[in-house]
Amino acid sequence: MSNILAIHSSLSSENSISNQLVDQAVAALQQNAPHSQVVLRDLAISSIPHLDADALSGIRGEPSSEAQAAARALSEELVSELKAADVLVIGAPMYNFGIPTSLKAWFDYVLHPGITFQYSSAGPKGLLTGKRAIVVLSRGGFFSDGPARSMDSQEPHLRTLLWFMGITDVTFILAERLASGAQAQEAALSSAARQISQTVENLKAAA
Ligand SMILES: Cc1cc2nc3c(=O)[nH]c(=O)nc-3n(C[C@H](O)[C@H](O)[C@H](O)COP(=O)(O)O)c2cc1C
Repeated sequence: MSNILAIHSSLSSENSISNQLVDQAVAALQQNAPHSQVVLRDLAISSIPHLDADALSGIRGEPSSEAQAAARALSEELVSELKAADVLVIGAPMYNFGIPTSLKAWFDYVLHPGITFQYSSAGPKGLLTGKRAIVVLSRGGFFSDGPARSMDSQEPHLRTLLWFMGITDVTFILAERLASGAQAQEAALSSAARQISQTVENLKAAA
């Protein structure tokens, strides 16, 4: 049995391609392991507030107000969901070359020194080892090669954030050129579906 934490971060609810692909990946993982427990965090439905001064004090210090205590409680809830997961499936649309602010806020609440990472004389050390991540990247344009590659602040950022917590077994599923018409979109969805099947097969073979 494995625990799956699925994260939706698109603002487009049922029209979202990344949500749809995350759900496909979760269904394929469940087919392999029917007793898997799935927790879904939809960051467009239950949004996470920006990390402000109160939230930072409450999360990293001793809470001294209601607002600080609420931020601490939310951080603990999100971290405990993350710690319990064996596999993370994250949907990340490209918004203005990077990730949605809701997803950045989720990372701001779970990146916690002493809990999910720590600094030592040898440098930073991620504390959430042994997890796998499947990250769906949806994009209107094409960034995986060519001149726009250096403008991609989505994949490298996510890779770094996950690595910082010790999550290094990460597979990216790409759905690109979604703004280039129906045919391009269909091709992107078929390609993403193949990438998902292959990833889930690989996970099964490695288990
Ligand atoms: C606010 C916003 C900003 C966007 N910025 C970019 C961008 O910088 N580059 C890009 O290729 N596509 C961009 N897009 C297009 C989305 O990445 C694309 O529509 C993708 O399908 C969104 O994922 P979703 O369908 O899961 O919501 C943007 C869309 C929105 C709504």
